[in-house]
Amino acid sequence: MPPIVRAVYFSPTHTTETIVSDVANELATALSAETATVSLTLPNERPASVSCDAGDVLVLGFPVYAGRVPELVTSEIARMSSGGAQAVIIGMYGNRHYDDALQEAADALEERGFRIVAAGTFIGEHSMTAHVAAGRPDASDQKPRAASDAA
Ligand SMILES: Cc1cc2nc3c(=O)[nH]c(=O)nc-3n(C[C@H](O)[C@H](O)[C@H](O)COP(=O)(O)O)c2cc1C
Repeated sequence: MPPIVRAVYFSPTHTTETIVSDVANELATALSAETATVSLTLPNERPASVSCDAGDVLVLGFPVYAGRVPELVTSEIARMSSGGAQAVIIGMYGNRHYDDALQEAADALEERGFRIVAAGTFIGEHSMTAHVAAGRPDASDQKPRAASDAA
């Protein structure tokens, strides 16, 4: 089976969706893979479970709530089938803090057999007030950067 980059997100105010889509599309281009997108946001969008094959890459994104992975997302992870796929974790937070949310997501995904290859946090406009991190992610957040740019 050709590899599939599986973009999976919970994103009530769409900032997570934006970054997960960007990362999944960049990865798919680099890997010459197809993308498949699953939104966990609304009950009628959620599949019975997310199922991956060994060559797939899961890009899982969620907003940080109270420093944690939203309970809905951890219960969805608990029903995922990894097939030994790799996983990339995206945690969106409203410029307070992401606390241990990435570690929490990594533990839950590893329990399902995923191999974590990358994890990152990104700032999104706070979904409780537009006065915090207004307009994020913006064009600068979304600009693809080469690894050499980090130096
Ligand atoms: C109930 C709730 C709790 C939140 N807790 C945090 C938090 O602990 N730290 C933080 O920086 N942002 C927090 N946020 C802000 C969101 O993580 C942030 O706005 C995120 O970008 C929203 O993602 P979405 O646009 O995909 O829904 C919280 C938002 C809500 C609604």
